[in-house]
Amino acid sequence: MATLKLGIIGAGGRGINSFGSMSLRHPKECQVVALADPNRPRMEAGLKKLGIQCDLYEKPEDLLAREDIDAVAITTPDYLHETYAVMALEAGKDVFVDKPLATTTQGCMNILEAGRKSGKLVYMGFNMRFDPVVQRLKKIVDDGELGKVFNIQSQEFYDGGKTYMARWNRLRKFSGGLFIHKGSHDLDVVNWLMGARPVRASAFANVSVLKPEGIPFELEEGETYGPNCTECQARAKCRDGFDIPADTFGKEAIEADGYVRNTCIYQSEKDTHDQGVCIVEYDGDQVASHSECFIGSITNRLYTVLGDRGTAVADLHANSIRVHPRWSKDVVEHKIARGSGGHGGADPTMFRNFLDCLLNGAEPLSNAVDGVWSVAIGEASEISRTEKRVVEISDLLDPKSDFLR
Ligand SMILES: NC(=O)c1ccc[n+]([C@@H]2O[C@H](COP(=O)([O-])OP(=O)(O)OC[C@H]3O[C@@H](n4cnc5c(N)ncnc54)[C@H](O)[C@@H]3O)[C@@H](O)[C@H]2O)c1
Repeated sequence: MATLKLGIIGAGGRGINSFGSMSLRHPKECQVVALADPNRPRMEAGLKKLGIQCDLYEKPEDLLAREDIDAVAITTPDYLHETYAVMALEAGKDVFVDKPLATTTQGCMNILEAGRKSGKLVYMGFNMRFDPVVQRLKKIVDDGELGKVFNIQSQEFYDGGKTYMARWNRLRKFSGGLFIHKGSHDLDVVNWLMGARPVRASAFANVSVLKPEGIPFELEEGETYGPNCTECQARAKCRDGFDIPADTFGKEAIEADGYVRNTCIYQSEKDTHDQGVCIVEYDGDQVASHSECFIGSITNRLYTVLGDRGTAVADLHANSIRVHPRWSKDVVEHKIARGSGGHGGADPTMFRNFLDCLLNGAEPLSNAVDGVWSVAIGEASEISRTEKRVVEISDLLDPKSDFLR
């Protein structure tokens, strides 16, 4: 068996720490032979971190022109996924795209179409599907323990101010908005568990805390704060101050592109929310809600799945699922073991599935069609929260499109 040659477009957090480091676990099956990122010092620091040598390109086009590369991972900021995924597919590469597939439903459809035309794999990097608790929950649903599922409530609590609002993620032009950027994970889990297609969505969301009025300290007269934690005069009294990794995101990398990863989360301009909720109606009388809070003092995901035979409450922090049968008090508690590796063991198993698709003809657990549907709900929710109206999914895509079969 020949070793797969992989390229990574976007040598940042996910490109290096996740995709790159997972590839090291399978040296006989794959090898990262090239990185592409406009930030050369970051690529060099990334290679050092991985302890490998490979070719570096500042332009993804140059990486994609290499005929020997079999597959690429797209781990750039979200707004670039469409461009590079389509280019890669047209260049005959199999593609792994981190979530979300793209920042618009149309962008996702363009990737889907390019994938179908090329006959190449579009692997949708929904690692949440590989979370051991989510996997067990899916089995409970598929085994019929809950009967017909009619309502799912998803809640994400995440102290994401530090990692999201300090970076490009806080601007819709780069991320599409949080319902797309982050919500696409959970909305996909809900779609997967529900086994139905979303029809319409509506949402409310705001920047409630991460704004100048929200700073967690008193300012003395004449005292300033920001623009980032490294330079902030009030750093000592701000409980949210944090340092950035000195290697891949340190001084040299900052000098190359001005990307500062600890921009003040209170002072920075943002046009996406720090907390919000969306509700979704499905095509078979089912409904769902997803709430996301990025200023939580807890970090957890909870999924409550209601069926006509029982209710399951999954707690990803406690690694447990409680199943409450409808006509009995005999609650069953499942305790679930986690594997090692990123996202509670989900990243390595997702990477294994990706390799199995390429090498052994396995089916991807999530594909571009799944990516389209979750972004469609996310986009409908972003429109809804802005325009204060219910948004039909059919305004964003043709549900009967052959591509979505
Ligand atoms: N699945 C998950 O759990 C998960 C978690 C975090 C992020 N993500 C996703 O992974 C992707 C990357 O996020 P991240 O947190 O690693 O971001 P990051 O900011 O850490 O890294 C992004 C990298 O892309 C590079 N880049 C910018 N423009 C580029 C271009 N034109 N060509 C090539 N590279 C370019 C940047 O220089 C940077 O090195 C995003 O799509 C994000 O939504 C997924």
